[in-house]
Amino acid sequence: MSLRLTVIGAGTMGAGIAQVAAIHGFSTTLCDLSADQLSTAMSSISSSVEKGIDRGKTPPEARDLVAQGLSTETDLSKACADADVVIEAVPEDIDLKNKIFKTVESVVSSHAVIASNTSSIPISKLASSLSAPERFIGMHFFNPVPVMSLVEIIRGEKTSESVIDSIVKLARDMAKEPIVVRDSPGFATSRLGLVIGLEAIRMLEDGVASAEEIDKAMELGYRHPMGPLKLTDLVGLDVRLAIAEVLHEEIGEQFRPPQLLRDMVSRGDLGKKSGRGFHDWSV
Ligand code: CAA
Repeated sequence: MSLRLTVIGAGTMGAGIAQVAAIHGFSTTLCDLSADQLSTAMSSISSSVEKGIDRGKTPPEARDLVAQGLSTETDLSKACADADVVIEAVPEDIDLKNKIFKTVESVVSSHAVIASNTSSIPISKLASSLSAPERFIGMHFFNPVPVMSLVEIIRGEKTSESVIDSIVKLARDMAKEPIVVRDSPGFATSRLGLVIGLEAIRMLEDGVASAEEIDKAMELGYRHPMGPLKLTDLVGLDVRLAIAEVLHEEIGEQFRPPQLLRDMVSRGDLGKKSGRGFHDWSV
C-alpha cells in the first residue's frame, strides 16, 4: 500500500512538496493553520500542474491524482493522525518547529517517520525535543520543487538506518535524486549556496557592480542557471536571512547577514513573492 504523507506548512516549499507527492500517487494532506494560505497553495499547485502538462513534463493523469489524492486540513492533529510520513515545511524558527513536532509526535502512529524540510537547523538539535529521535530525519527540497531534482537527506545523530532507507526510497518514488549527508549546520547545499548569496549582497553594498551585472557574472561566467541575487529573490530574502542567522550562530562570522539584506527584509522587499527584491518582479 502506498504511503500516506502529510506536509505541514502551505508556503512555497510545502505546496511544492505536496504537489510532487500527489502527482507521484501518494495520498497527501497539506496542512496549514490558515485556510486562506491553503487555498492560495491549491491554486498555485493547480497552475503548476497545468504548466508541467503543457511543457510535457507532467502526465495529464496528474490532474486526477491531485484532485483525488491531495486534501487540505487546518487542524494539525487531524492532519497527522493517519500519516506514515510527516514532512514539516514551516519557516526557519526552531521554537515553532519544536512546538509542531511535539504535537505531531503525540498523534502519529508508532511507525510514522517525522521529517523536516529545514534548510539550515541541525537535525539533531530539532530531534532533541522528541521522545523518539530515531524516527526523525532531514528531507530538504529545492525551489521550485516540481523542477529541481535534488533531495538532500540529513542523517541525525540518532536517525535509524531503516528510516534513512525509507526516506531515500520515498525521494526516488517522488522522482527525485537523493543525497545523504551528515548532520551539520546548513548541510551541503545551504552552507555552500549561502556563501555565494551573501557575498553577492556584500559586493552590491560595496558598489563592485550592479545587481544585473553580478547576476550576469555568475550566469555567463560560471553557467549558473540564475545569478545569486536573482536566486535570493526567488527563494525569498526573509528565508535567506533566517538561514544566514542560523549559520552565523552555528558556524561563524562568514555567515553574518549583510546590513542590506536586513534593511530590505524590514522594508518588505522580499523578492519575487513581494514584487521587489534585488530586481523588480512587479511586471
Ligand atoms: N512542472 C514540471 N516541470 C516544469 C514546470 C512545472 N510546473 N515548470 C517548468 N518545468 C520544467 C521546464 O519544462 C523546463 O524543463 P527543461 O529544462 O527540460 O526544458 C525546466 O523546468 C525549466 O523551466 P522554465 O523554462 O520555465 O524556466 P527556466 O529555464 O527559466 O528556469 C529555473 C527556471 C528552474 C528556476 C532555473 O532558473 C533554475 O534552475 N534556477 C536555480 C534554482 C535554484 O537554484 N533553486 C534552489 C534554491 S535554494 C532552495 O530552494 C533551498 C532552500 O533551502 C531555500
